[in-house]
This record gives sequence, structure tokens and C-alpha cells, in this order.
Amino acid sequence: MDLKAKINLDKLPSHVAVIMDGNGRWAKNHGKPRVFGHRNGVTSVREVTEAAAEIGIEYLTLYAFSTENWNRPKLEVNALMRLLVETIHKEIHTLNKNNIRLNAIGDISKLPEKTRKALVDGIHNTRHNDRMTLVLALNYSAKWEIIKAVKDIATRVGNGDLDPEAIDEDLFSDALSTKGIPNPELLIRTSGESRLSNFLLWQAAYTELYFTPVFWPDFRKGHFYQALIDFQERERRFGKISEQLIKS
Ligand code: IPE
Ligand code: IPE
Ligand code: MG
Repeated sequence: MDLKAKINLDKLPSHVAVIMDGNGRWAKNHGKPRVFGHRNGVTSVREVTEAAAEIGIEYLTLYAFSTENWNRPKLEVNALMRLLVETIHKEIHTLNKNNIRLNAIGDISKLPEKTRKALVDGIHNTRHNDRMTLVLALNYSAKWEIIKAVKDIATRVGNGDLDPEAIDEDLFSDALSTKGIPNPELLIRTSGESRLSNFLLWQAAYTELYFTPVFWPDFRKGHFYQALIDFQERERRFGKISEQLIKS
């Protein structure tokens, strides 16, 4: 039986987040510079975006560039920023054809102007699409996002606009850049690393984590389906015991 047929469409996660990792090592294994890995990673982005939209995922968040990634060699950072511009320009047509909306989380004001503009234009040009939202995490840091939320909330309290007693999980969630987006039920990380690397720390509090040794440029639809199947085989207890759960 093929993998896709094994997926229960009534039990899909509404939001899947992916830490796309392993481009550099993949390139090294092919005797090529790291940038070659990033370029090939674009094919995986296309595949996973298409697979997710086809099957009925509502939100797909891809970690494309972390705040810490600025510390990489300048040549690599510049190449990544250029690749982003190129990819957004190339893919907008397909996103529109597939009715996919583009969005972004992270401090995009700090991106090079060309990259920021490509992104803002892409978001604008796909704003009416409603089949799936593709969220790119760019210059993203979960700690940055949490600090920013705390500052915003503190300012409102300071101005007398907010009673500290009114601060709850919902209010805090709404102060994050993922406002309006459900928490990811499944988070996939490729390349064999088992860490979050400053990604969605608040939002992933109860997320199912899936780690695969596959390097990102090799990740295909089948790997994505496998992650969904694995997710569906798990029991999400949220602190309860198995017998308390309503089995469907
Ligand atoms: C992920 O691949 C892409 C980005 C972080 C932009 P890496 O570039 O981290 O590849 P490895 O982990 O060095 O193999
Ligand atoms: C995480 O990957 C960031 C992205 C995938 C964009 P890294 O390769 O930067 O993470 P670390 O450094 O191994 O934790
Ligand atoms: Mg890496």
C-alpha cells in the first residue's frame, strides 16, 4: 500500500512546522560547496509545500533562517538571502496556482531590502489564497519573539491599557508573531539533529516532535507522509492517562 493511502484524512494536524536542516552536510557529501545544498533544498520546499497542500494541511511553517544564522560566513548568508529573493519570485506563480497564501514570522525588518521586498510583495500577492498558509520563519528567534511580546504587554500595562490580571495564555499567544495561527501539532526536523534551535518555543509546548536522519535536500513527499503516519500512530495524552481519552 502506498504511504499516502495510509494517512487518515480525519486526523491530520492542522499545522506542521519543519526545521529544514542538513543542506551543508548534504552538499559536502556530494563534494560541493554549502550553497549547492541550499539550492537543492528548494526542491524539497516545493515538494513538501505541494504535499501538505494536497493532503489538506492548513498551515505549514518552514524554518528558513534563524537569528543565529547571521553568524555564518558572510558569503553563505549573502547567497541565502539572494536565493530567497530568487525562490520567492519563481514560486509566487505556483503558490497562486495552488491557492497557497504566503506569510512570514521573525524580524523581517532586519532582512536586506531586496529580500524583505520580495517577501512583502509575495505576501501581498497571495493574500487572497485560502487553501493553505505557508509561513516562512525568517530571521526568526523564539526568544526574540517572546521578549518582544513581553515588552508589548508591559507597555500596555504601563499605559494603563491592560490589567496584569488579564494576562493569560491566550493574550500572550496573541502577542506573538504567530497570532491567529494554531500551535503546530507536529514538528519535523531533518538531518539527525534532535534540538529546537530557538524555534517556536512557546508554540511547541505540546507539539509532537519527529526527527529524521534524512538531509533536507533529500526530503521528498514520501518522507513527509511517513512523518504524518508516525504522528497519527501516537497517543497525545496532554497530561491525562490513556483510559481518559476518547478514542475515535
Ligand atoms: C539548513 O541547513 C539551512 C539553514 C540553516 C539555512 P544547514 O545549512 O544548517 O546544513 P548543515 O546543518 O550545516 O548540514
Ligand atoms: C536551524 O538550523 C535553523 C534553520 C533550519 C533555519 P541550524 O543548522 O542553524 O541549527 P543548529 O546551529 O544546528 O542548532
Ligand atoms: Mg544545520
